[in-house]
Amino acid sequence: MGLGASHDGLAPTPPMGWNSWNRFGPFVSDQLVRETSDAMIESGMRDAGYRYVVIDDAWEGSLRGDDGHLQPNLWRFPDMRALAAYVHDRGLRFGLYTCAGDRTCQGYPGSHGRESLDARRFASWDVDFMKIDWCHATGLDARLAYTTWSEAIRATGRPIVLSICEWGRNRPWEWAGTVGHLWRTSHDIADRWDSLIDILDRQEALAPYAGPDHWNDPDMLEVGNGGMTDAEYRAHFSLWAILAAPLMAGNDLRSMTDATRAILTAPEVIAIDQDPLGRQGRRVRQENGVEVWARELSGGARGVLLLNRGETAARVEVTWDCVGGSRSDVAFVRDLWERQDVGRRSEGYDVTLQPHSAALLKATRDNSPRA
Ligand code: GLA
Repeated sequence: MGLGASHDGLAPTPPMGWNSWNRFGPFVSDQLVRETSDAMIESGMRDAGYRYVVIDDAWEGSLRGDDGHLQPNLWRFPDMRALAAYVHDRGLRFGLYTCAGDRTCQGYPGSHGRESLDARRFASWDVDFMKIDWCHATGLDARLAYTTWSEAIRATGRPIVLSICEWGRNRPWEWAGTVGHLWRTSHDIADRWDSLIDILDRQEALAPYAGPDHWNDPDMLEVGNGGMTDAEYRAHFSLWAILAAPLMAGNDLRSMTDATRAILTAPEVIAIDQDPLGRQGRRVRQENGVEVWARELSGGARGVLLLNRGETAARVEVTWDCVGGSRSDVAFVRDLWERQDVGRRSEGYDVTLQPHSAALLKATRDNSPRA
């Protein structure tokens, strides 16, 4: 349903990258962005598919310049264009934030009424990704405001991914597919399990609206920020993969633990997120705190997520009729975290999961003759 941001091919799969906000809030600087770009490479994140390095709110100076242009806080960002070049030289892409309202959420100058001027400014800094927020936007029509942005960006002639951030307030899934490449569906994530689950429950009905160049965005990742266990972070990452969510790391890439790095770079989990068919997963079973989510993959296989959201260990079962097959099917099962084949399974598969944890599988219908 819905066309992508004019099908321009800028986000054929959900964008992957890093954003400063979840870990650093307003404490952003040229140095942080350079060090993060280096860490993207050293940690293996770039090789795993992460591309965008996005500076969120608080890069701005307190006032526009005399020429009306937005200007950075020059103490912390002495030369945006040089910073973009640093990022680009490392095979990465450069992203920046502004707000569609009169001020940003941190109180810096917003872009309302200056969309063309600001879009040209961002293009002149070689920006590849714009996140446009929605604070201090009272009285504005979201669809119109973001369409103005979309047109202003297009008029620059520079390919720029447009990330819409109005928190799902105006049902963006119904109109944003032709306006931007991704849109936030819900409020800000926090580094806690209950926040994750609360966001998850708001995604279920939105699956039909996503696809290549137009993605639902349940918000940036908290993996590695310290508020959850590694098992919870694996569940978080698995859920974002089954949801075809943008994967924007939100932690300090310069000092990740090995466990955090292993989660963020898990190749077979990322492959589910980045599956070229672009079908967002749906909840296919829900009962007593255990759930099964599934998405169709290119080639006809299924990504299957088994989730225990409860407080005690629980058995979670998927049967093949829940994921588009029938009970009599035999499927070949692979565990994508363990990166191991589980083998052929008739009817379905089950596993016992600890509280707040998930398993992620790939199930491929087995056509070989029965033994
Ligand atoms: C809003 C957005 C966040 C972040 C902050 C910055 O809350 O939803 O993702 O950009 O503003 O101030």
